[in-house]
Amino acid sequence: MHRLLFALDPETAHELTLGLLALWSERGPLLEVPARLLRVEDPRLRVEAFGVSFPNPLGLAAGMDKDARALGAWWALGFGFAEVGTLTPRPQEGNPRPRLFRLVEDRALINRMGFNNRGAEEAATRLKRFRQRGLPLPIGVNLGKNRDTPLERAAEDYLKALRLLEPFGDYFVLNVSSPNTPGLRTLQEGPFLDELLARLRPATPKPLLLKVAPDLSPKALDEVLALAKKHRLQGLVAVNTTLAREGLKSPLAREAGGLSGRPLKGRALEVLRHLAQAEGLALVSVGGVETPLDLWERLKAGASLVQVYTGFVYGGPLFPRRLLLGLLRLMEAEGVSSLGELRRS
Ligand SMILES: Cc1cc2nc3c(=O)[nH]c(=O)nc-3n(C[C@H](O)[C@H](O)[C@H](O)COP(=O)(O)O)c2cc1C
Repeated sequence: MHRLLFALDPETAHELTLGLLALWSERGPLLEVPARLLRVEDPRLRVEAFGVSFPNPLGLAAGMDKDARALGAWWALGFGFAEVGTLTPRPQEGNPRPRLFRLVEDRALINRMGFNNRGAEEAATRLKRFRQRGLPLPIGVNLGKNRDTPLERAAEDYLKALRLLEPFGDYFVLNVSSPNTPGLRTLQEGPFLDELLARLRPATPKPLLLKVAPDLSPKALDEVLALAKKHRLQGLVAVNTTLAREGLKSPLAREAGGLSGRPLKGRALEVLRHLAQAEGLALVSVGGVETPLDLWERLKAGASLVQVYTGFVYGGPLFPRRLLLGLLRLMEAEGVSSLGELRRS
């Protein structure tokens, strides 16, 4: 089945998979039996971050389930949490197709989706229903602005989306780092970011995080850190897709958009290490995680949580289980008895 999907155009494969997972998500007993086989429930994997308890540190990254349609499936497949979105206040189509490309030789993807989503209101209805089911899956909600909202009014878009979704998320992420909404990354710059955070921080007592690009200089990262602290954010999600194109073999390497997967791994680790020097912010590492060793490396480098997207696309449905079982083996080999202990040390 997983191989078959690779014979289809990437976005068709994505829609088909998500559609099936969404149907599966609605079936209570059909979800719980496989979950017993697939989930790795082990107290050693538990993580506390920004006041939320996570059953394990491995999360689904934003963009896979933008509209919160398949939350039950992410739980059954073993994820410790899922981040939905990016959600904008109003629904929007995104960029024209094709806008998603598989760089198979590089174990990478390029996407220029452009925040295609059904809008914050519809997602709120779905999240409410999911919450009523009581499945123990913490949910992050990733927020953005509509493409046609001018930058000067961006904060209003984030605020509108936040107001609609606030009751249903365990944490919220301000996405200012997608390369596919013109001008969005400007919001990472000092004066813009300062104003955005000043407007958004008072709007919720819940954990608020910022998602950053891998293409920021060390100086720009320091500026982001300073503002995150000034406005008492709980953490940072690092990193989004990159505009860099070094060392790629695939003929699709020149497509416009953000690159994810294996080629992003080195830079994602580098950014994490840079950010980890600062204290008082929880770090969610994302970018190029494919193996248990990658996961372990991020946790040791200071990440409280780790997310995957591209590695999961190539790795298939057993990917979360494989990563978590492998992580437990690595912890045993290094004599680490719980991830909680790792973070305290
Ligand atoms: C097709 C696609 C769509 C994405 N959409 C979003 C999005 O809407 N919001 C966001 O913050 N990140 C989005 N991302 C970025 C991922 O969340 C992640 O930061 C990035 O892909 C790096 O992780 P990976 O190497 O494990 O894929 C998207 C990535 C892909 C491949």
